[in-house]
Amino acid sequence: MSFERDAGTSVIDVSPSDMPKVNLLPPLQPTQDLLLKTCKYLFSKGTFAKNAPFKGFLLHGPVGTGKTEIVRQVVRRLGEELNDKCTVRFIPVDSSVIASPKWGESEKAFNRIFGYVETLQNRFKDPKVVLLFDDVESLMLSRGMSAAKEWHYSLNSVFFHKVDSQNPSEIITFATTNRLDLLDSAIKTRLYGLFVPRVSIDLLVSAANDLLDTMLTPDQVKEREIVIEEVRKKLDEMENPTIRDTRQLIIVTIIEKGIWSA
Ligand SMILES: Nc1ncnc2c1ncn2[C@@H]1O[C@H](COP(=O)(O)OP(=O)(O)OP(=O)(O)O)[C@@H](O)[C@H]1O
Ligand SMILES: [Mg+2]
Repeated sequence: MSFERDAGTSVIDVSPSDMPKVNLLPPLQPTQDLLLKTCKYLFSKGTFAKNAPFKGFLLHGPVGTGKTEIVRQVVRRLGEELNDKCTVRFIPVDSSVIASPKWGESEKAFNRIFGYVETLQNRFKDPKVVLLFDDVESLMLSRGMSAAKEWHYSLNSVFFHKVDSQNPSEIITFATTNRLDLLDSAIKTRLYGLFVPRVSIDLLVSAANDLLDTMLTPDQVKEREIVIEEVRKKLDEMENPTIRDTRQLIIVTIIEKGIWSA
């Protein structure tokens, strides 16, 4: 299959305060804490780290386990905790959008993104940027593995050069993937890898209970029981369910059981 479209879309930067709060699943919290304290240190005291062989983090693990959400929550917390010292901005990049089989297109998209990062210097006081390349493996897939070598040389000149010139006291790069096997070692050596695991069904059911707080009124006790019972049953029937599956099952169950009908 081939597609013809220009890579890239308009780049946006997001304020941490625009990120809704999500209580991460308990097994993911140590990862969040590690990311938060490291980013906080780098953004507030890490100027000496300019030439360190470290540019950020690579979160990897199965589909739908909360990799992107961890980054969003770290950004939200950084915004809260560094509020009086600097301006934290978040630039989420959907890698599949900038992936292009057309020669030179992905490189142009990268230039646009990194050029945009530079403009933040003029717009904000002491900006600190979290740059996220979400689903970064799609950059590899877009060219096919047979062309990966060429891809690497071409992208090397733009992506890795830009990332290498970043000072992590100003810009921290995150990438996420569920296909670690497809990633070039050049990415793995620059970004510190952290595995984001699946969690037990009991923990997913407990997260479902939290999620229902925003979907049902406090007096809908019976309805809550019905949804939780059904969600647990369906999770038990699934192979390796995730938090994304749990969210979807809740909505499907609420609608199917007529709980939201007027
Ligand atoms: N603890 C949580 N409580 C409620 N919802 C959550 C939680 N963690 C993640 N989510 C939600 O679950 C969905 C899946 O999470 P997310 O997109 O972060 O997974 P992912 O690992 O990045 O998936 P993919 O591999 O497809 O990129 C998202 O809608 C996210 O907001
Ligand atoms: Mg994701």
